[in-house]
Amino acid sequence: MTINTQNLATLTQENSIQQNSTQEDSVDIAQLRTPIKVDLSPIYEFLGARTTQAWVNAAIADLPLIIQDHANCEKKAAGTAMNLLFRYEFSYDLQRKLAQLIREEMLHYEQVLSIINERGQEWQYLSAGRYAKGMLKHKRTYEPEAMIDVLIIGAFIEARSCERFAALAEVINDERLAKYYRYLLKSESRHFEDYLALAQSLSENNIDERVAFFKAVESELISSPDTELRFHSGEPT
Ligand SMILES: [Fe+2]
Ligand SMILES: [Fe+2]
Repeated sequence: MTINTQNLATLTQENSIQQNSTQEDSVDIAQLRTPIKVDLSPIYEFLGARTTQAWVNAAIADLPLIIQDHANCEKKAAGTAMNLLFRYEFSYDLQRKLAQLIREEMLHYEQVLSIINERGQEWQYLSAGRYAKGMLKHKRTYEPEAMIDVLIIGAFIEARSCERFAALAEVINDERLAKYYRYLLKSESRHFEDYLALAQSLSENNIDERVAFFKAVESELISSPDTELRFHSGEPT
């Protein structure tokens, strides 16, 4: 099913998915308008390390794997948000933000599925990399600290995704895919801000110290040697 022009115009707007997302099962990626340039400086400041050329080279050399892992990441992002939605029902703000996030991540999932389909790529099973587990193992086990940590980790995952989409969009030899990655920057950078703001709003104390802790953990996961290539993997070995 192809999406009509009216829907395409709304798709590129920030809140468009609130209107039409349920009607589409595929999106004509070629027709997505190049979005307004997103200011990535808050993301670069938030993250403790930048993606290296070595990772970009490895990713470009195995794009089918990166695309498959990206699909998995979108699905997991929706799943994680859905878990939070069921677990923490006391906050209106949290519920509203999470509901929006789930719809957006599922739309991204559908879009990546279209890309896989368009490219004639076989679906491949991919185990999860070490990245999310490497942060979640530091999650505190008591509330509300556990929830605060999951939200901070969510902010890092979103920020890193954004940073990597931007890095790939710069060099990728496939303009359709590069355009799609640029299109994602806007929503993923908003997800990063939403997670971070929620974490702070639900905490009685300032979360800066905890953010700094996860910044170091995340940085290490991205910069240290990693035997597996994934969307959020470390330095290729
Ligand atoms: Fe997403
Ligand atoms: Fe996201």
